[in-house]
Amino acid sequence: MLVDDDDLVRKSLARQLCRQGFDVLQAEDGRAALRTLESEHVDVAVVDLEMPGMRGHEVIRRIRQASPRTECVLLTAHGDASDAFEALNAGASDYFTKPIDDWPRFTQILKKAIEVRDLKDQLRSARQEQNFQDLIGRSPNWRKLTAQIQDFSAYDLPVFITGESGSGKERVARAIHASSSRSAGPFLAVNCAAVPENLWEDKFFGHEKGAFNGADRRQAGIFEAATNGTVFLDEIGDMPVSAQPKLLRVLQEREVVRLGGQHPIRVNARIVAATHQDVKVNVGKGSFREDLYYRLNVLEIAIPPLRERKEDIPLLAYHFVRVFGEEYGKTVKSIDREALRLLTEYEWKNNVRELEHVITRAMVRVRGDTLAADLLELPGGRRAPASSGSAPVGLPAGMDPEWMELDYKASKEKFLEWFTVHYLVMRLRSTGWNITRAAELAGQQRPNFKKLMKRYGISRPDED
Ligand SMILES: Nc1ncnc2c1ncn2[C@@H]1O[C@H](COP(=O)(O)OP(=O)(O)OP(=O)(O)O)[C@@H](O)[C@H]1O
Ligand SMILES: [Mg+2]
Repeated sequence: MLVDDDDLVRKSLARQLCRQGFDVLQAEDGRAALRTLESEHVDVAVVDLEMPGMRGHEVIRRIRQASPRTECVLLTAHGDASDAFEALNAGASDYFTKPIDDWPRFTQILKKAIEVRDLKDQLRSARQEQNFQDLIGRSPNWRKLTAQIQDFSAYDLPVFITGESGSGKERVARAIHASSSRSAGPFLAVNCAAVPENLWEDKFFGHEKGAFNGADRRQAGIFEAATNGTVFLDEIGDMPVSAQPKLLRVLQEREVVRLGGQHPIRVNARIVAATHQDVKVNVGKGSFREDLYYRLNVLEIAIPPLRERKEDIPLLAYHFVRVFGEEYGKTVKSIDREALRLLTEYEWKNNVRELEHVITRAMVRVRGDTLAADLLELPGGRRAPASSGSAPVGLPAGMDPEWMELDYKASKEKFLEWFTVHYLVMRLRSTGWNITRAAELAGQQRPNFKKLMKRYGISRPDED
């Protein structure tokens, strides 16, 4: 598309380019160019700098905004470096000085712009594939969901993710970010349930040096820090009512002022919020502002609970077996039928996270190359302990709260098992899987060390 107000120049340029095999559209100013983009697909826009109405830079900026896949080349009459620089800043991929006498170079620039665009496309789709490889699932429900994620990634609009605890909300939020045009920018998460009320403003807006006692240097708020990236507002349903107007204000005005600061800073971050609550109910009860809800919930993704996508359970189980196996040098090749049956029938109140835990614990105990049903610690039929959810205070790291339900001996055994596997793997990894050296570091005889490895089914990850 040629955008130039000078009829003569534009038409002769168009003729030349047609002769060279390009399909050419013409627009006499920025407005006409933007109109054309609404109905036509344009690979490259060649935009003249000096035009009445909108200047070339502004036209380029708007074209890039309206149609990110259109590459822009600026035409200037007097190769001014600052014009060129400004054009590149506005999103142009190149510039050229009039009059166009070096045709081979000019067409080369156009072809290069198209090439760059195609490369960007390839990169984006490769990245998307990569992200979706990390998101395990093949059930119809899950496929619907990934299609949605893919669709939504293309828009720069807020996304609202709902799903039960452990269903993959954060994982999905990251996938949205990673497959969006903001993927090169930061992904910053804030747990809205965990920020103390008096710290909300600081978290959102940041502060200037000296804004309050202890503010010994300037600190950016989360929206500022996430410029060109994504802010993930986790557990949004648990956000205290008193903090909600502050967030609403950011979303409405799309700018923040640091505490103690003067100047508004433009917010350029995509908002992805998630909650395990039914926020509509909270709106009804008055514990969540309706206006905020509608600001956040523009595009909605509802992650189905694991029990509604049972076909994904074996896939996920094998996925976790592989991940843990690689990490801890266990070479489990299969999960037996009975184990798969139990896994598929179980209710998974805490969804994928719970499945991950169950597999991880089984992998610590497994000896051979098959994960059998007796290794799965599913609280089958047993009533969940009253303390479920919150770990008892003072529990040592790595200690599973469920082990506390067992008697002393059984509990100790589980803990030791867990400890031994981690200890051995740590020693082995630090020596590049040199058993002699690892045993030495552990103060053990090599045969003894090997015996322990065998008992706990540990072998070098790439060895069978
Ligand atoms: N589709 C998936 N493929 C692979 N791993 C997954 C998938 N979904 C979830 N997981 C894993 O399950 C665990 C829980 O996921 P995540 O933290 O995203 O859930 P959540 O919904 O945010 O949980 P919570 O409600 O507790 O905050 C993570 O370890 C995550 O990597
Ligand atoms: Mg989460």
